Amino acid sequence: MRRTPREFGKTFSGQAAELCRLTTANGLEADVTDYGATLVSLRYPDQNGKVRDLVLGYDSVLGYETGSCYFGATVGRNANRIRGAVFDLNGQEYHLSANEGRNNLHSGPNGYSFRLWQIREAEQKENAITFHLSSPDGDQGFPGNLEASVTYELTGDGALKIHYEAVSDQSTLINMTNHGYFNLNGHDSGNVLNQWMELEAEYYTPVCASSALPTGEIREVAGTPFDFRRPKKIGQEIEDGDIQIGRAGGYDHNFVINGVSGALRKAASAFSEESGIAMEVWTDLPCVQFYTANFVEGQKGKEGAVYGKRSGFCLETQYFPNSINTPGFPVFVLQPGKRWEATTIYRFYHMA
Ligand code: BGC
Repeated sequence: MRRTPREFGKTFSGQAAELCRLTTANGLEADVTDYGATLVSLRYPDQNGKVRDLVLGYDSVLGYETGSCYFGATVGRNANRIRGAVFDLNGQEYHLSANEGRNNLHSGPNGYSFRLWQIREAEQKENAITFHLSSPDGDQGFPGNLEASVTYELTGDGALKIHYEAVSDQSTLINMTNHGYFNLNGHDSGNVLNQWMELEAEYYTPVCASSALPTGEIREVAGTPFDFRRPKKIGQEIEDGDIQIGRAGGYDHNFVINGVSGALRKAASAFSEESGIAMEVWTDLPCVQFYTANFVEGQKGKEGAVYGKRSGFCLETQYFPNSINTPGFPVFVLQPGKRWEATTIYRFYHMA
């Protein structure tokens, strides 16, 4: 293991954050911080050997603490939205904070993305690091003492593997994701509209007019701008006046990944002609939120970069958003004493 911890600044409350570097022989290199168990940088050589950093991020913990974009962060206990910031579980009502109108987004202002996680030295594997978080009963409003961990691992075949585990002593909701914003030309290269996207999804979940919550419908992508079953440039239909795209200011929708959840399968592929870098996303979760950074504006990022609208794309693997409040959506509830595990793999390569 070649892990070199570096200081990454201090939080407002004076806690020191650490930056750890993971490296592999094939040139893929990742920097991760214990603040938010966040992926800060992901460097990979392009087709000409020039190293590019493929994810948006900040230079120190300050950016992550004050930012609202969730660059590279681990989101939990529940990613995406919960209508009315309330849900019923086993006959009991639970209240979360409303931080997007009346709804809850990414578990509210005190989400796991804004906590200092513990680095678990003992669990280190080659080119891997595990972050651990204890989330007490009632934390953010959720029931159950939860012990959660996230492991980042660089694998020999050029992939970043993210593995989640959690156990709770009461039934609870869990829906953890990574909120990486990818740009296959480099984090500071402008927008991603010319980059190609393919999504392994026959269906997506349209959003409401008044909020970004799913309406509850599971709609076919066929014949709509949401049809990424064959590779298409991200920008091809993004300004076409589609009602659903208009509601979100771009793509910000949940896609239902083909195949059986619980088994690792391909969710998405992306490619840039300019850099020759391609990526694939594999997951055992049922869905993926494809978000085109519609609300990113003037964000002062790493190394002097300023990120604007559509300067990256997110592929946030997840359960159906707001499923606990949506008849017809499959709901995942973590049962007491049962171990929850999920894996998402971001694999990088060069297009031949
Ligand atoms: C949401 C977006 C939101 C972004 C940053 C995404 O998961 O779907 O609407 O702007 O996260 O919070």
